[in-house]
Amino acid sequence: MNDKAYSFFDDKSVLITGGTGSFGNLFIKNVLERSKPRRVIVYSRDEFKQYEMQQRFDLHDYPAIRYFIGDVRDANRLEMAMREVDCVVHAAAMKHVPAAEYNPFECLHTNVNGAENVVHAALRNGVKNVLALSTDKACNPINLYGASKLASDKIFVSANNLSGSIGTRFTVLRYGNVVGSRGSVIPFFRRLVEQKADHLPITDERMTRFWITLQQGVDFAASVINAAHGGEIFVPKIPSMRITDLARVMAPTIPMKNIGIRPGEKLHEVMVGEDDSRQTCELEDCYVIEPAFNWWKRDSYVGNGAERVADGFRYSSDNNNRWVSDEELKAFLRDIK
Ligand SMILES: NC(=O)c1ccc[n+]([C@@H]2O[C@H](COP(=O)([O-])OP(=O)(O)OC[C@H]3O[C@@H](n4cnc5c(N)ncnc54)[C@H](OP(=O)(O)O)[C@@H]3O)[C@@H](O)[C@H]2O)c1
Repeated sequence: MNDKAYSFFDDKSVLITGGTGSFGNLFIKNVLERSKPRRVIVYSRDEFKQYEMQQRFDLHDYPAIRYFIGDVRDANRLEMAMREVDCVVHAAAMKHVPAAEYNPFECLHTNVNGAENVVHAALRNGVKNVLALSTDKACNPINLYGASKLASDKIFVSANNLSGSIGTRFTVLRYGNVVGSRGSVIPFFRRLVEQKADHLPITDERMTRFWITLQQGVDFAASVINAAHGGEIFVPKIPSMRITDLARVMAPTIPMKNIGIRPGEKLHEVMVGEDDSRQTCELEDCYVIEPAFNWWKRDSYVGNGAERVADGFRYSSDNNNRWVSDEELKAFLRDIK
C-alpha cells in the first residue's frame, strides 16, 4: 500500500483504544512513520504495557504520542481522553473465547458497554471518524466473544443514527484470524515442534480459517477510515487456509492426531452470512455490508463501481476462491518471530 491512505492522519489527533495491543502497536507505528499526525493517543489500562511501548515510541523521537491510562468501561475517562480528537480507532476488547465464556459479565462490560461508551464520548466531543474493529466470530456467532462483538458492531452501525449535525461517521472493520497473533495456532504448533512432540493435535481435519497478516489488517483500517460513509461493515477479501496444510508445512514429519472440535469453535468461519447478502456489495479488495437504514443511499457504492453480490451469497473460509499456498505459508512463517 502507498502512503496515500495514511495522509488522512496528517495534522489530525487520533485516539486508539487498546493502543498497546498487537493491532494498536503496529497501527500506531504506521501512523507515526507514514503520516504527520498532530497527536496519537494510546488509551488502555495497564501501565506496564504502556511503559514498554514508551521504550519503542518515546516523546523525544515521536513528539505526537500521548499515553493515557483508561478503561473503555469508564465513560468519563473516555470522554476526557477524546477532547479535541478527530478520529478514533476502537481496538480494545476482551477477545479470548474461553475467557469470555467463563467470565461473561466481564466480556459484556468491555466489549458491549465499552462500545456504547466510545460512541457517547465520540458524539459528545464531535469526533469525525470512528472505526471499530470486529471479527469473523461476530458473524452468526456461537460463542459469547462473537456475540458481544456482534452487539458492538450493531452499536457502531446504529450510532450513525445519532450523529445528526455532529456528523460523526461510525464504521466497522471485520476480519479473520491474524497470522501468528498471541494465543493462536502458529505459536502453539511451534512450541510443540520445539518440544519434539510425537503428534500435532488437530481439532478437526476439515477445519478452515481466514488468514490476514497484522500489516494487512492495519493498512486496511487506515484505508477504510478514510473512505467510509458511516454505517458500513467492511470485510477484506483475504485467503483461507486448511489447518492440516499449516500442520503439514510446519512439521512435515510429525503425525497429526484428531482431538475433536472444542466448545464454541466453528468448523469454518463466516464473514458475510446469507442473510447479510441482500445488503452486501463487492469492491475489488473487499465486501461492504451496508446498513439497512432508510437514510442510507443505496447507490453509494453500487453507483460507483461496486457490484451487488447474489442473494444468498456467503463468504466463508471454506467457500473462498483464494487459498494460501505452501510457499505463502512458508513465507508467513519466516516473517513471524
Ligand atoms: N488478533 C486477532 O486474531 C483478531 C482477529 C479479528 C479481530 N480482532 C479484533 O482486533 C482488535 C484488537 O485485537 P488485538 O489482537 O490487538 O488484541 P490484544 O493484543 O489483546 O490487545 C487488546 C488491547 O486492548 C486493551 N484493553 C483490553 N481491555 C480494555 C479495557 N477494558 N479498556 C481499555 N483497554 C483495554 C489492552 O490493554 P490493557 O490490557 O492494558 O488495557 C490491549 O491494549 C480487537 O477488537 C479484536 O476483537 C483481532
